[in-house]
Amino acid sequence: MEKTERVGLSIERQLLEAFDRQIAVKGYANRSEAIRDLIRQQLSEARLEDPNARAVAAVILVYDHHVTRLSQGLLQLQHSHLLETVSSLHVHLDHHHCLEVVVLRGRVRQLYKVADRMISLRGVFLGKIHLVTLEGHASTQCPASPV
Ligand code: NI
Repeated sequence: MEKTERVGLSIERQLLEAFDRQIAVKGYANRSEAIRDLIRQQLSEARLEDPNARAVAAVILVYDHHVTRLSQGLLQLQHSHLLETVSSLHVHLDHHHCLEVVVLRGRVRQLYKVADRMISLRGVFLGKIHLVTLEGHASTQCPASPV
């Protein structure tokens, strides 16, 4: 467990009450945990503004698997970026539609580039990318990744 520091904050009563209501709805056990999460979120977002920062991305795709060559196109993109593809999950939603979650690791710039190529393939109905990064965390390091 990392060493913790105790800090005192001055916050307007109304602001604090609104914060307490919100964290109660979300299920936080106490303010400290909620504030720690806010700080982590803020730091992560700031790091993701750097295109060279290392991050992990979840690319969520909904597509029609009947569209010719789409599945092969998605596979090719994953294989052509083998060092960055961590895993993928495929769910057959119904007769036509598939949901795929592709987890990639790399630099922010590369992650957006690969995700955009996946999302823009013909037959992809919905595509989203979610990036996370943790300072000094092993899971976001990619020493083998080319710049
Ligand atoms: Ni499927």
